Amino acid sequence: MAHFDENAKPFSNRWLDDRLAINTVKKVLSTEYWIPKNINFLWAMGMVLAATFGLLVVSGIFLLMYYKPDINMAFDSVNYTIMTEVGYGWLWRHIHGVAASLVFLIIYIHMLTGIYYSSYKRGREMIWLSGMLLFIAFSAEAFSGYMLPWGQMSYWAGMVITNLFEAGSLELTGLVEWIRGDYVPGDAFLLRFFTLHVLLIPLVIMGLIVFHFATLRIPHVNNQDGEDIDFDEAARLYKEGNKKESKVIPFNPVFLSKDVFVLGIYFILFFYLVFYHFDFAMDPVNFDPADGLKTPPHIYPEWYFLWSYEILRPFPKDPGLIAFGIAQIAFFLLPWIDRSPNVAPAHKRGLFFWWFWILVLDMIALTVLGKLPPEGIYNTLGTISAIIFLLLGPALILITKLEKKL
Ligand code: HEM
Repeated sequence: MAHFDENAKPFSNRWLDDRLAINTVKKVLSTEYWIPKNINFLWAMGMVLAATFGLLVVSGIFLLMYYKPDINMAFDSVNYTIMTEVGYGWLWRHIHGVAASLVFLIIYIHMLTGIYYSSYKRGREMIWLSGMLLFIAFSAEAFSGYMLPWGQMSYWAGMVITNLFEAGSLELTGLVEWIRGDYVPGDAFLLRFFTLHVLLIPLVIMGLIVFHFATLRIPHVNNQDGEDIDFDEAARLYKEGNKKESKVIPFNPVFLSKDVFVLGIYFILFFYLVFYHFDFAMDPVNFDPADGLKTPPHIYPEWYFLWSYEILRPFPKDPGLIAFGIAQIAFFLLPWIDRSPNVAPAHKRGLFFWWFWILVLDMIALTVLGKLPPEGIYNTLGTISAIIFLLLGPALILITKLEKKL
């Protein structure tokens, strides 16, 4: 404790530094956390995601004060109490609904940015894996939240998704009943999904976000050209005052100010949707209370799950489940399916560029078809799109093996 300053004023910078090493923490996490100069607005999406998650937590806490996790009261507590009786209850509900939908749009943009710029390679595999865990956790959070208003779609989507645990011809009906706590979705089902949604999964997400940030610290974020920057050298130049020559900027205050600018634009769009188009995030069928005796003619999940759903739906039960499983695992394995060591943007990677855009268009096609009834031409197109998706994995192995040889 040689450097301990007896005269430092309580809670002054020096006093806190002696006790908590706050200056070192500030440097490591902010003023000497180096970010490449050569990046565009797409690199602000991580912060946009973190901010949207913050909004989900805050609006969720307000909703929690009036929500009733009971199958006889849940629907009215949301659609009547919160929407009409509680002051500004409608605002918190719209914020929560819009944020839940937009968070997936931004997650997909963030993931596709990672794929386009090969940001899952050369020491960045753990960033990718922790990101994929976040994707699964957000999916579980969105699904459990969708159960809570206890409308028709909550009930029937809950029925269809829990039925998947029957595992096709393995007929694990015992497992399905164990998950539901009953033969069909009921009070036990609602209460356990409520617990998952408001407590367990948010805690997991918070832990995963911290882990995701930690995985970024050593390899640093990638840049638009996939250049292998010597961060120590670039940081030395910056600190010596050669800011123009240095290839990096500090996170705080330089990069953070750019993040805040993108966040500002995002929030304009966000609140435009909250006030004028909140209904885009809500299914009209879910404004009817759950009725276990009245199956809706067409059951589908929220838009962000449609691509996965359309990979499952066109095939018979068992192959459908296998295709669905492969689609989920494939994204996890991307850093190893891509055999090329080349870290470069897709437009500098020949065939990979075409592979990337086929992936994007195919996922859009699957999303559109997933909402349409599985009949006639829609069924045929759905089957073709699902097969294309499944072939994209082997195609990537081949393309990137070729790239490695060139
Ligand atoms: C949902 C919560 C998430 C949050 C809060 C988050 C946050 C961040 C932040 C702040 C960054 C650094 C800046 C940037 O590149 O935007 C980042 C980078 C990254 N994230 Fe996420 N992320 C999330 C989800 C995901 C998901 C689902 C994936 C995909 C599997 C992913 C993959 C990546 C990758 C590969 C990078 C590195 C980008 C690069 O090196 O250029 N993240 N994330």
